[in-house]
Amino acid sequence: MSSTPLKVAVTGAAGQIGYSLLFRLASGALLGADRPIELRLLEITPALKALEGVVMELDDCAFPTLAGVEIGDDANTIFDGVNLALLVGARPRSKGMERGDLLSANGAIFTAQGKALNEVAADDVRIGVTGNPANTNALIAMTNAPDIPKERFSALTRLDHNRAISQLAAKTGAAVTDIKKMTIWGNHSATQYPDVFHAEVGGRNAAEVVGDQGWIENDFIPTVAKRGAAIIEARGSSSAASAASATIDAARDWLLGSASDDWVSMAVASDGSYGVPEGLISSFPVTTKDGSWEIVQGLDIDDFSRSKIDASVAELAEERDAVTELGLI
Ligand code: NAD
Ligand code: LMR
Repeated sequence: MSSTPLKVAVTGAAGQIGYSLLFRLASGALLGADRPIELRLLEITPALKALEGVVMELDDCAFPTLAGVEIGDDANTIFDGVNLALLVGARPRSKGMERGDLLSANGAIFTAQGKALNEVAADDVRIGVTGNPANTNALIAMTNAPDIPKERFSALTRLDHNRAISQLAAKTGAAVTDIKKMTIWGNHSATQYPDVFHAEVGGRNAAEVVGDQGWIENDFIPTVAKRGAAIIEARGSSSAASAASATIDAARDWLLGSASDDWVSMAVASDGSYGVPEGLISSFPVTTKDGSWEIVQGLDIDDFSRSKIDASVAELAEERDAVTELGLI
């Protein structure tokens, strides 16, 4: 394994996700205990002081895998030579807001960051977008970085994927490790479609194991799709540690590969697979290997799943039209 540090940029590093994410990245959760990483942390100017405090705490952990930390408020400086950019920094929604309400507030952040990555990131850069509305923010960054191949951009639906696994495990009494081939389709929003019809529990079809279409439609799907809102309601602020954990799961599997008997959910630029219009950043079942992903092909989509996928994709198309109108892409 290379001993050259992987340069990892994190935006919004002084925020609540950052406070969990940075320590896990620095402790080796991304690439293991043998590969050092260098953190490049971007914040807005007023948050730099708080970020200095977080860096003091990182120092105090004396992490063996942390090769260096640089902080700043200039994207061109912080993104210089980065191999992985985790774009977290954006305003979270508060009670009563839908993620779509964040389109104009957060979209502009991603035009500037897409341009900066295009200018200065390493040739092998991979970009994962966690900040909401994640799919459309990834579309904005991708469109503003014409020299970076489109397949290097993804938006986070791994948190939804993990939530779906956890709900299915609780329902069936299985361990989370017995659940394979979960899929989140579409947008990281309340329209997302968590699909158990292709998932497996202990090697058996999950929908058959559950044997209860009512639970799938009226309990499982809304619980997963509205989990973000339930956490905001309970905690008073949006999910942070679980979002950081999923951000790492997604980046780790992207760089190191998914398990041979499984797949993961990632929102990536559609190539037209499963009728999703080309170019939209939509969540699919993907396998990953050596920093590349491939959409799992050939799954049968019945009428129920078709209508759910179509509804979420229609919302993505509306978001794309809205940010086009705002002049962001
Ligand atoms: P937070 O408000 O605690 O932190 C966001 C940070 O981003 C702040 O420190 C802010 O100063 C910084 N920031 C704002 N504009 C910036 C810019 N232009 N450049 C760099 N930094 C900037 O929010 P949080 O709870 O950490 O959440 C961050 C984002 O992640 C939100 O949009 C939230 O909705 C989203 N989120 C996504 C998922 C997911 O599964 N995709 C899950 C949870 C949260
Ligand atoms: C989540 O899914 O927890 C985040 O996207 C936060 C939100 O706004 O729901």
